[in-house]
Amino acid sequence: MRKFRVGAIGTGGIFRGPHVTGWKALPEVEVVAVCDANSDAAKAAAELTGAQHVFTDYRDLVKLDLDAVDICTPNRVHTPAVLAALETGKHVLCEKPLAVTTREVRRMGELADRKKLVLMTAQHQRFTSSALAIKEWAAAGHLGEVYHARVRAMRRAWLPARPSFIDHSLAGGGPCMDIGVHALDACLWIMGFPKPVRVTGVAKVNFAKGHKIPGMWGEWDRKLFSVEDFAAGFVHFDNGATMTLEAAWIGHQVENEDMSFQLFGMEGGVKWPSGEFASVVGGTFTHGTLTYPRRIERPHSEEIQAFYEAVMNHKPSPVPWTETIKVIAILEAVYESQKRGREIVLKI
Ligand SMILES: NC(=O)c1ccc[n+]([C@@H]2O[C@H](COP(=O)([O-])OP(=O)(O)OC[C@H]3O[C@@H](n4cnc5c(N)ncnc54)[C@H](O)[C@@H]3O)[C@@H](O)[C@H]2O)c1
Repeated sequence: MRKFRVGAIGTGGIFRGPHVTGWKALPEVEVVAVCDANSDAAKAAAELTGAQHVFTDYRDLVKLDLDAVDICTPNRVHTPAVLAALETGKHVLCEKPLAVTTREVRRMGELADRKKLVLMTAQHQRFTSSALAIKEWAAAGHLGEVYHARVRAMRRAWLPARPSFIDHSLAGGGPCMDIGVHALDACLWIMGFPKPVRVTGVAKVNFAKGHKIPGMWGEWDRKLFSVEDFAAGFVHFDNGATMTLEAAWIGHQVENEDMSFQLFGMEGGVKWPSGEFASVVGGTFTHGTLTYPRRIERPHSEEIQAFYEAVMNHKPSPVPWTETIKVIAILEAVYESQKRGREIVLKI
């Protein structure tokens, strides 16, 4: 029987780790082609996956007979690679952020829609036990209408030292696009993706140009560093809800990483990822911790399985571009607000 044929573009850390594990967990799937601009990375991925086709140019990979393409390049290479894959009729799973501008997200999304192809952003935090437990609890009415959210993706010194993260021409953004995108996407997903309408933000470099805080992932090139190391934003939604957003790779805080959100609803409040909730039932204060019946060890594998099942069963994308565009609109507006020194009115 013919297996589901996957090609991978960008075979660095995230592909050779969690993505290979995810694809290998699906017996009906084979990774038949791999591509990386760095031939050693491509060869290493071929050894791991058994892929018989090895390329350094993705335009060669997309010419093959494939069902889907998995894109794990640096952020700024996502858009051209996604467009090339969609143009040649492949379903696409693409790492976060799908793109660093709403213009690019829309271009990819509309092309996928026209061609009736699944385009999924790899937001694996939605597939964690804690996010799923909160989603179910909120869907059962325990959260009620959300009037405020706090989103944090704050690290003490885990600054990814590689050029693909710190060089603006490759990354298109710093912690906002790297880790802020995770907590923000998961939070908006629980909120039901209200439409963001106004954003104020700052995006700065506080420590990454100097040597005051040592990096836990080693030294980075201070001259090449051209993204923010800290950002904060304030968001208004069309339903009146508000949100604060903070993202940093480096700064003085006790926690190595605080990747979290807190939601304040009219029926209850909840924290992710702890699952702690609070409300008042019949006049009595109540609180506790939500748990999910299934312990999910590998959320990336769940995400890959959800993509595969959507394609096979002709279902909508599990993380559609129409949701991703709201995430990217907020992050893009944080940068724009820093540049212009004023609040940004969104038009998406
Ligand atoms: N979801 C997650 O948990 C998670 C974690 C880490 C990274 N990511 C995302 O995955 C992507 C890749 O991150 P990474 O950590 O694997 O980075 P990485 O630097 O380890 O790997 C990126 C690879 O892409 C290759 N590449 C660069 N330009 C290319 C091109 N034009 N064609 C083909 N290959 C090209 C590089 O040679 C490199 O091997 C980023 O978008 C990042 O945001 C997601």
